[in-house]
Amino acid sequence: MALIHGGQLQQIAEQYKISTNDWLDLSTGIAPFSYPIPDIPLSAWQQLPQRNPELIAAAKQYYQCSQLVVTNGSQAIIKALPELYRQKNIHARNVYLPERGYKEHAHAWKTAGYQLHFYQASLPDITSLLPNSVLVAINPNNPTGQFFTPSIIKQYHEKLSQLNGLLVLDEAFMDVMSKEQPYSPNLDSDVANDSNSGHVMVLRSFGKFFGLAGIRIGFLIADNTWCKSIASLLGPWQVNGPAQIIAERALADISWQIEQKSRLKTLRKAQEKMLNEVFSQALLLDIKGCDLFLTLRFHQVEHAEKIHHSLCQQGVYCRLADEKDTIRFGITVMGNFKRLESACRQAYTRIIAGMDAGT
Ligand SMILES: Cc1ncc(COP(=O)(O)O)c(C=O)c1O
Repeated sequence: MALIHGGQLQQIAEQYKISTNDWLDLSTGIAPFSYPIPDIPLSAWQQLPQRNPELIAAAKQYYQCSQLVVTNGSQAIIKALPELYRQKNIHARNVYLPERGYKEHAHAWKTAGYQLHFYQASLPDITSLLPNSVLVAINPNNPTGQFFTPSIIKQYHEKLSQLNGLLVLDEAFMDVMSKEQPYSPNLDSDVANDSNSGHVMVLRSFGKFFGLAGIRIGFLIADNTWCKSIASLLGPWQVNGPAQIIAERALADISWQIEQKSRLKTLRKAQEKMLNEVFSQALLLDIKGCDLFLTLRFHQVEHAEKIHHSLCQQGVYCRLADEKDTIRFGITVMGNFKRLESACRQAYTRIIAGMDAGT
C-alpha cells in the first residue's frame, strides 16, 4: 500500500474543495527557493543519459567523499536495499528504525520480511544490537529534528562493523547543518580500515536543499563494493541528462549554497518565532526541526489534527503526522508570512473557543 507523504496537494485540494492554485503548500521540507535552471543543451534532451564525470567530481567535492553513486533520489536506494542486503548477508534478519521518521524505510524492510525494532528519541542501546543487524538513522530526523553528532554515529558504525551489520544513514536534510556534521568524510578514513568500510552507507538527497525535488536525483556514498553492486542493480539511465547538468552546476556553486543556507536560516528563525507567538504556551509544547521544516507538538495531542483541519479549511496545507499528534511546516518565503500567520491565528482562535465551550 502506498504511504501518505507531504506534497499530495491534489488529494487534499479535492478533499477541501479548494482549487490547487489557491493553496499555500507547506507540506514538505523542500526549500522554497530553487537553484536556477541553467541553459540545457538540446543534446541532453535528445541523447540517452551518459555517465557525467563533471557531475561526479562536483558531488565528491560537495559531499567530501571519494566514492559515490548517482541515483534517482534516495528513495531508489531505500526501496532496493533490503533485498540487496539479504544477498550480501544471508544472516541479516533484524533492522532498527526510528519510530518516528520517513516511513519509506520501515515499509521497505518490512515488505522484504525483516524483523523491525523501533527506537524512540535516542538510538538503541549499543550493547543490545544483534549480530548482522541493520540500523537506520535519519540525521537530522524528519519530522522530529533529532540530531546525532558524528562521534555518536561513529560509535554505532564501529559496533555494527564488529557485528557484521550495516549502518544506513539517511542525511536527506543534512545540507542545512554545519559543515562538520555530515558523516561521509569519515568513510574515507575507513578505506584504510577495510573491516569497517562495508558496514556503512550514507544517502544524500539533492532535491530538498536545492529546492528541486522534481528532477529526482540523489547520491549514495559508500565503499567501492557497495557502490558497484548498487550501480549494477540500478542499471543504466537512472538519472536523466538534464537533471545531471542541473545538479552538476548546483553542487559546484558555492556562493549560491552559502546564500541559500543563510536565507533558509533567517526564514526558519522568523517562522519559528511567529509560530511560537501565535500558538503561545497555551497550546504549544515545543517546536523542533531544522532550517527546512518545523514540527509542532501541543500539550493536547488532539490539537494537532484540529489545527491541521482548520488550516486546510483556509487553504494552508501543512503535514499532519501519521500518528496525528504533530504538524510540520515547510519553510516559506516572507511574502507568504502574513497569510500563514493569519491562518494560524484563526486556527488558534477556533481551538481556544472550542476549549472555552468545553468541546
Ligand atoms: C528523511 C527522508 N529521506 C529520504 C527521502 C527521499 O528523498 P529523495 O528520494 O527525494 O532523495 C525523504 C523524502 O521526503 C525524506 O524525508
